[in-house]
Amino acid sequence: MQTKILMVCLGNICRSPLAEGILQSKLNNQTHKVDSCGTSNYHIGGKPDIRSIEVAKKHNLDISHQKAAQFKKSFFDHYDHIYVMDNSNYNDIIALTQSPDQIAKVKLILDEIYPNQNLDVPDPYYGGDQGFEEVYLMLNNACEKIASRLLS
Ligand code: 4NP
Repeated sequence: MQTKILMVCLGNICRSPLAEGILQSKLNNQTHKVDSCGTSNYHIGGKPDIRSIEVAKKHNLDISHQKAAQFKKSFFDHYDHIYVMDNSNYNDIIALTQSPDQIAKVKLILDEIYPNQNLDVPDPYYGGDQGFEEVYLMLNNACEKIASRLLS
């Protein structure tokens, strides 16, 4: 059976598309399927931000085919693990949960590398290119940890 993992941010154009591409690249897509979405409807159907596409390309990842989608309650049943980028995303997703099982699926992605610190992946949307490189590095570290646990 395929394990399904969902990456969530606000717009689904900067952080979660990178997280999707990075984690999928560390896993076999026959056994693990990684997707992403946003809590908002701001960019539905749109491509990732050009700065996320470029930083991914610099690290040999192609995320240009991705299309933004909005989180739906049905995703709680579809996905096994839901990783959110920041505390605001966490609160928005937890507000939609209807059972302890659903709550247990939702985790802050940086808790993977900094347990119990509740740190945010900073939103790079309003900043410069350096912010995207920093986000890439944080997500790469977190996804390395997630992938090794999923494969162990
Ligand atoms: P993301 O970044 O949540 O990492 O995709 C954002 C992208 C767009 C907006 C906010 C955050 N926006 O307000 O349009």
